[in-house]
Amino acid sequence: MPPPGPPDGTDPAWLPPAAFRAIGSRRTLVRGGGGPLVETVFGEVAGACARFGGSVARGGATADVSSYDLVLDVGGAQGDDESFVLRRDAEGGGPTTVTAASGRGLLYGLFHLVRLGEGVFQGRWEPEVHRPALPLRMLDHWDNVAVHPVMGQVERGYAGGSIFWVDGRARHEPQRVRAYARLLAACGINAVAVNNVNVHETEAHLLTDRIGDVASLAEEFRAYGIRTHLSVSFAAPVLLGGLASADPLDAGVREWWADATAAVYDVIPDFGGYVVKADSEGQPGPFAYGRSHADGANVLAAALEPYGGTVHWRAFVYDHRQDWRDRSTDRARAAYDHFAPLDGEFAPNAVLQVKHGPMDFQVREPVSPVIGAVPRTRLAVELQVTQEYTGQQRHVCWLGPMWSDVLRFRPDGETAVGQLADGLVGVSNVGDGPYWTGHPLAQANLYTFGRLAWDPGADPLRVLDEWVSLTHPDAPDALVSGLHAVLDGSWRTYEKYTAPLGVGFMVQPGHHYGPSVDGYEYSPWGTYHFADRDGVGVDRSAATGTGYAAQYAKVWADVYESAESCPDELVLFFHHLPYGHLLRGGSTVIQHIYDTHFDGVAEVEAAREVWASLRDLVEPGRHARVAELYEEQVRSAREWRDQVNSYFLRKSGVPDARGRRIY
Ligand code: GCU
Repeated sequence: MPPPGPPDGTDPAWLPPAAFRAIGSRRTLVRGGGGPLVETVFGEVAGACARFGGSVARGGATADVSSYDLVLDVGGAQGDDESFVLRRDAEGGGPTTVTAASGRGLLYGLFHLVRLGEGVFQGRWEPEVHRPALPLRMLDHWDNVAVHPVMGQVERGYAGGSIFWVDGRARHEPQRVRAYARLLAACGINAVAVNNVNVHETEAHLLTDRIGDVASLAEEFRAYGIRTHLSVSFAAPVLLGGLASADPLDAGVREWWADATAAVYDVIPDFGGYVVKADSEGQPGPFAYGRSHADGANVLAAALEPYGGTVHWRAFVYDHRQDWRDRSTDRARAAYDHFAPLDGEFAPNAVLQVKHGPMDFQVREPVSPVIGAVPRTRLAVELQVTQEYTGQQRHVCWLGPMWSDVLRFRPDGETAVGQLADGLVGVSNVGDGPYWTGHPLAQANLYTFGRLAWDPGADPLRVLDEWVSLTHPDAPDALVSGLHAVLDGSWRTYEKYTAPLGVGFMVQPGHHYGPSVDGYEYSPWGTYHFADRDGVGVDRSAATGTGYAAQYAKVWADVYESAESCPDELVLFFHHLPYGHLLRGGSTVIQHIYDTHFDGVAEVEAAREVWASLRDLVEPGRHARVAELYEEQVRSAREWRDQVNSYFLRKSGVPDARGRRIY
């Protein structure tokens, strides 16, 4: 089958036809074993050859390679399922060769060749082994089947409707799903969950009577080596099975999960497993039965185990009905308090899925202390690719540097998060809009997520280089540097004009777009900044505060405990400080707030000009869309600046040392 193109009018993202020129203009031999993924690779090469004049042939394991430029060898090599070896022996005039033990490794090898382009057919390449650092590289779609009255078709979706579901039913658009699977495989993603973690009634039925719809999606994903997962309700035995209870220690409940899971594997033999949000923001869970989250996870794990499936159990458990007057409860502590004591109790095929920070995907948070506290538990770190709190795909905010900081953080001072974790999970930012991700430049976040899951130690700027050159083949230098100019620093820019010094959540409640400094200050959600006339921030020290700082290993607990040693960017997350407190960077808290908000807006205005200067270098539709979104970003950034600065001027009474206009 030829490789799928995107649906008509949809941007080909990082797989435009021209990205295949180097491969498509050569003579390729696909040699050795077969199987569906080898067919996919063959189809990819054949499609490229049809466009660029090359040729592709099949051959047995010992077929003569002398008349080929590229040999894709499968089945003969030792190695794990996802790895491949690349080499080129120029002296011998030999071809470029990719060798893989399986079709999956060959597929990743093919996309690696696409990234390298012409260079891989020149000179000598000593054998290079490539394998993903993390076995679980997953996207969670927060897609609803039925349109939710508040959240819509996609919860926190900023790119149009769901690509899987519409108005309560499956879309049945295999071409779109397969094109999407291809994009994901090309950046290394190997797993997808196709429905929202908030499992409403309609979505709950995907597990049983609507499993056929999931099977149709799985068929498309399978062609690109991606396993399909389902978010399920912990209360499914009651909701769907009519049982009186969902108690995980009840024999009838265990049997129900075992039977339901067997039925899933009947139709999706390579089903990946379940994702569960339990006892979290109103979702049912084991606490209702006095059971632990390990008990809850293990009943699903047991049902999946015979088939090689995995349960992803989310650690996002906290009290969302807090009294704002109660200063003893700290939401940041919750995940650690619930899950650290359970380390070692989870089944081997249960993965604890932990948000990267202790709160909720703010532009700046410390790394979750849970990540370093569960050495005997399989762990996946969850990132939010969809930009709920980072501009909702109307603002340019490339998150690569933030994610890289998380993955390189060393919870015990020695081993990096990217080495401790078994997986990386991203909340998807994709919808049915023409650019997949709403904002065309938000594609860079999706690509970067996949590549960092493959190699958490990768330099994010190199990953961005890859995205730029794949997405804009043959880009002149001015375009490459222009794209870097608008993307490289965009996360820090966003941080500057929004919530300062790690304090977070000064956002409009509900939809979470735009400023509202006190929007969550007197709410039940546990996200407060405690600003008064003297100061701002949350005392999370062990000495005088909530004790959250002590959830870290000593190397970090000591750093965070004192406002003198705490890094500036997190200082209001850990400390309540007077406005006149001198930061490590040399300015006072209040002056830092003013300066960064003015600077942030100036940086967005400058980025808008850079984008305007690229007009003749970018496809007109894409250029116009981004230009239009920059107008909104500038408007919104000014609104953030003026509300935040005015709020703190009024609270503190301290004027801006530089005398700028504050309202
Ligand atoms: C955030 C988001 C919710 C989502 C939740 C989650 O709080 O606002 O829409 O359900 O995260 O991660 O489960």
